[in-house]
Amino acid sequence: MSLVDSERRVLSGMRPTGPLHLGHYHGVLKSWTQLQHSYQCFFCIADLHALSVDQQVGARLGDAVLDVALDWLAAGVSPSSATLFVQSQVPEHAELHLLLSMACPLDWLQRLPSCPPNDALTYGRLGYPLLQAADILLYRAGLVPVGGDQLAHVAFARELAQRFNQHYGCEPDFEAKAEAAILKLGKKTGALYRRLRSAYQLEGDDEALNTARALLKEQQTITLGDRERLFGYLEGGARVLLPEPQALIGDTLRLPGLDGLPMSRSADNAIFLSDSPAVVEEKIQRIAVVADATGEAETCRVWQLRQAYAGAVNGEQIESGCRAAGGDCQTCKAALIETINAELAPLQARGAEYRDNPLLVQRILADGAERARSEARDTLVDVRQALGLNYR
Ligand code: TRP
Repeated sequence: MSLVDSERRVLSGMRPTGPLHLGHYHGVLKSWTQLQHSYQCFFCIADLHALSVDQQVGARLGDAVLDVALDWLAAGVSPSSATLFVQSQVPEHAELHLLLSMACPLDWLQRLPSCPPNDALTYGRLGYPLLQAADILLYRAGLVPVGGDQLAHVAFARELAQRFNQHYGCEPDFEAKAEAAILKLGKKTGALYRRLRSAYQLEGDDEALNTARALLKEQQTITLGDRERLFGYLEGGARVLLPEPQALIGDTLRLPGLDGLPMSRSADNAIFLSDSPAVVEEKIQRIAVVADATGEAETCRVWQLRQAYAGAVNGEQIESGCRAAGGDCQTCKAALIETINAELAPLQARGAEYRDNPLLVQRILADGAERARSEARDTLVDVRQALGLNYR
């Protein structure tokens, strides 16, 4: 049994659907680049998910995967801090997906809002959230930084982990083993563990739970198996086979697109991370502004974008400037163009280095897959054993 500090583990992913835009950057990518310094991060290019949504995509998959990898690297996801990998290069995702499917009620999948109607449904598409759960649980990640549209999927992964643990996490003689493990903590620590455990279980004292977990982490002398049992025994009657993940939703504003709707590639309202300064300028200039927009800053697309950039602090200043300009939107547009181009310049400089060196990108992804696989294999050893698949 391997021990993983799931509270320090992050996993997230994206489907390779084409070049990334500012909405991706402000929605998730920027937060990834911050998390990578304090958490053990795994970032997955979900090419199998792409196939489950659109089988035709196969022919373009290689290019699409490379595009995403390049945009991640350009945005500052660093291969020396985080593990970047392609889902299909880690076959353990497919294996865990299958094993989890044994415990997944069909109607949990059918009830999800993202589930397409029956006539459009393949087996693979129905299992989309299950494969996503496998992505997360395979790394025993406690945190999943995603956009708000993915909340239901992360909640699904959490419920599935719970159910899986209830079904399979329990050793037949779990309680006896956990009690024996308490004795091995020594008299004083054992008594403290018992006190904290009942404070949590009888009085719902969360602080006691955290203290007990911290106490277990400090114990050097007990085996990893016993430690896991004692972690599980704190909360209930089973060891934690697959830790329950939580979504991490950034507090950034959802970036409006050029037409005021949320920025997305399919809505054709996006500024891409790879857009040159001239393209950015042309796109912003093309935003139609109502001539008498003065005083209507709330509905002006230019103002909305500027405000998203300024954040709550400077928003008011921009708003009053916008009103005072009396319809002279050129100043406002020029300021926005400058802001966006200044933001994109370092990304594009970094991106160019990788773009000129595709072999390097391939090596980063191959390295990433190898690191990811080694973690994934550890989880699968435990899962196979829990399911009784460890016989010869
Ligand atoms: N479904 C996610 C999306 O469409 C992509 C994804 C795949 C993902 N696997 C994941 C996100 C695991 C978080 C964790 O954006």
